Amino acid sequence: MRVRIPDWAKQDEPREGLTLGKRQIGIGLVGSGFMGRCHANAFRTVSGLFDVPFDPKLTILADATDDLARDGAQALGFERFTSDWQALVDDPGVGIVAITAPNVLHAPISLAAIAAGKTVYCEKPLSTTATLALEMTQAAEAAGITTMVGFNFLRNPMIRLAREIITSGEIGEITGVRGRHAENYMASPDAPHSFRTDPAGGGALADIGSHIISMLRYLLGPIAEVHADCRTIFPTRPVAPTSPERAPVKVDDMTHALLRFENGAAGSIEANWAATARTMDLSWEITGTRGALAFSQEAMNELRLWSGIPGRNGYTRIEAEPAHSPYGAFCPAPGHHLGFNDLKVIEVAELLAAHAGAPNPGPDFREALEVQRCIEAMQKSARTGSWVAL
Ligand SMILES: NC(=O)c1ccc[n+]([C@@H]2O[C@H](COP(=O)([O-])OP(=O)(O)OC[C@H]3O[C@@H](n4cnc5c(N)ncnc54)[C@H](O)[C@@H]3O)[C@@H](O)[C@H]2O)c1
Repeated sequence: MRVRIPDWAKQDEPREGLTLGKRQIGIGLVGSGFMGRCHANAFRTVSGLFDVPFDPKLTILADATDDLARDGAQALGFERFTSDWQALVDDPGVGIVAITAPNVLHAPISLAAIAAGKTVYCEKPLSTTATLALEMTQAAEAAGITTMVGFNFLRNPMIRLAREIITSGEIGEITGVRGRHAENYMASPDAPHSFRTDPAGGGALADIGSHIISMLRYLLGPIAEVHADCRTIFPTRPVAPTSPERAPVKVDDMTHALLRFENGAAGSIEANWAATARTMDLSWEITGTRGALAFSQEAMNELRLWSGIPGRNGYTRIEAEPAHSPYGAFCPAPGHHLGFNDLKVIEVAELLAAHAGAPNPGPDFREALEVQRCIEAMQKSARTGSWVAL
């Protein structure tokens, strides 16, 4: 049986060769914070919007303590809870393990889930080091496990449209790119330490730089070499919210990097979580020999295209609409706009199709490994003051 996609949703072509029934798939979710809520919402919502091969069943939620797990399970609609993520992984009712716990837990939980034969849906960054990310990737590939990593911003129909425009040659040969992921959530020196400032896998580059790296790889292909500067803006932060005690910051608050792509394009990125005034500026401008494109997640339903018609100088604003699949799965009317959580719903629809045997659109662990390698290359460059090849 094929995955049926409703015409009105203007989905991609139906995928061939699947043996599917409308079955339930048990979801084991680790973590019930910001991303845990987002994942749970996506799993609850997806069947009502997409003709997915499995109906997700919110089976078991794991969190750090029994109290957190119980409260999280109740709030997010899970049948059961546990404070032992290994029990979640081993649970026979769980087919997909979704990991929204702090970065240091991504590797051990993923490796355990792979060993148990479960599909793994892991948040970004894939891990804390490229070595661990490689181990995770090799384990998944050796076991034939479906993996997906939460680079949800790639699911935006405007980003897909940008890639189509670039690969069609419409804006010519790509020569330059300027990318940025800037937010202000650590802009106060009193924003406390958390897993995000853990020297093991933390820092602005890993936390949000991973998003702009993954997006530029999606749009322009592999990065050949990098030259970076990583900076800590605030030397200390409170050890916990409202605590008077402060501890040194050992990760970057802000990274700038020059990039050279394998396709010959060159440019720069900035990762900055202390960017006063910015809330979600995951943005880029890409210039080609015949045109240019620009995007910011702060206006995520818009793509700007410069096509250089004489007398019509300036960017044209393209607004998201049902013609941009899968916008139509959410709304039949232009201008009504998708939101952040909708990107996760799209991601989960693709995860469920991949779990059922459809070609995995990724980013899978191997692609996320390349992002991790890029992060490490930038950190190495900042330490050595030289270009680092990937
Ligand atoms: N894709 C995105 O857009 C996006 C956005 C934000 C965060 N993230 C990623 O999601 C992950 C979580 O980030 P967050 O913002 O949700 O953090 P968070 O602090 O809000 O949530 C983390 C959750 O993990 C739980 N946890 C901690 N230790 C645990 C343990 N031993 N066992 C089980 N659960 C445990 C915490 O109690 C909490 O519920 C990170 O890897 C982060 O990089 C991705």
